[in-house]
Amino acid sequence: MSERVQHPLFARFYSAYVRPSLERFGADAMRAELFAPLTGTVVDVGCGPGDSFRAYPAAVTRVIGVEPEDYLRGLADKEATRAPVPVELVAADAEHLPCADGSVDAVVYSLVLCSVPDQEAALAEARRVLRPGGQVRFLEHVQAAPGLLRSLQRGLDATVWPHFGGGCHLARDTVQTFSDNGFEVSELAPVAASSRWVPAVSGVARVLP
Ligand SMILES: C[S@@+](CC[C@H](N)C(=O)[O-])C[C@H]1O[C@@H](n2cnc3c(N)ncnc32)[C@H](O)[C@@H]1O
Repeated sequence: MSERVQHPLFARFYSAYVRPSLERFGADAMRAELFAPLTGTVVDVGCGPGDSFRAYPAAVTRVIGVEPEDYLRGLADKEATRAPVPVELVAADAEHLPCADGSVDAVVYSLVLCSVPDQEAALAEARRVLRPGGQVRFLEHVQAAPGLLRSLQRGLDATVWPHFGGGCHLARDTVQTFSDNGFEVSELAPVAASSRWVPAVSGVARVLP
């Protein structure tokens, strides 16, 4: 499974350049605010280099960091040792979470659903592993408003962008995908630091009864 997602060049580029710029845009504070209500066991899907770990509140008793990419998972291992909550790393992917049915309190996606090959399969896994009443908390960039920018995004998605961006897609309608796959989305908010070109949102998704 994990061998399906290996982007060694992108992983190094992401770590060296994207990661510091996310920090400059206030990603730490955004994650901390989004994660503040979390408790219990959390699956951090596509945890990358582990920058989310330091944002979990003390009420989180276990983080399962799922990261398929070897280089990024190595960085996450180091972050885990500094994290304020217990973190274990697993080489797996969003479409095959290493958790029993109904066993986790929350699933976290932070800038991941743009990159998973199959969003519907990923969300089916989230539904499977969440306990009744559990929640998804997400921070994701999404497609631009209708118009030229969105058309450009679609053109890039169909050509070069995913190849250079570790599988990233610019024009995904991720919030709609939650709604189409058995989730009710709430607390949806635009990320102030994002741009018209790459708008981002945060929110909560709960499995519909
Ligand atoms: C932009 S990085 C975000 C990392 C981290 N969540 C953060 O907020 O900094 C996207 C991450 O998604 C991971 N990823 C890509 N495809 C995946 C999949 N199918 N399942 C799980 N993670 C995946 C990548 O390896 C990478 O770590």
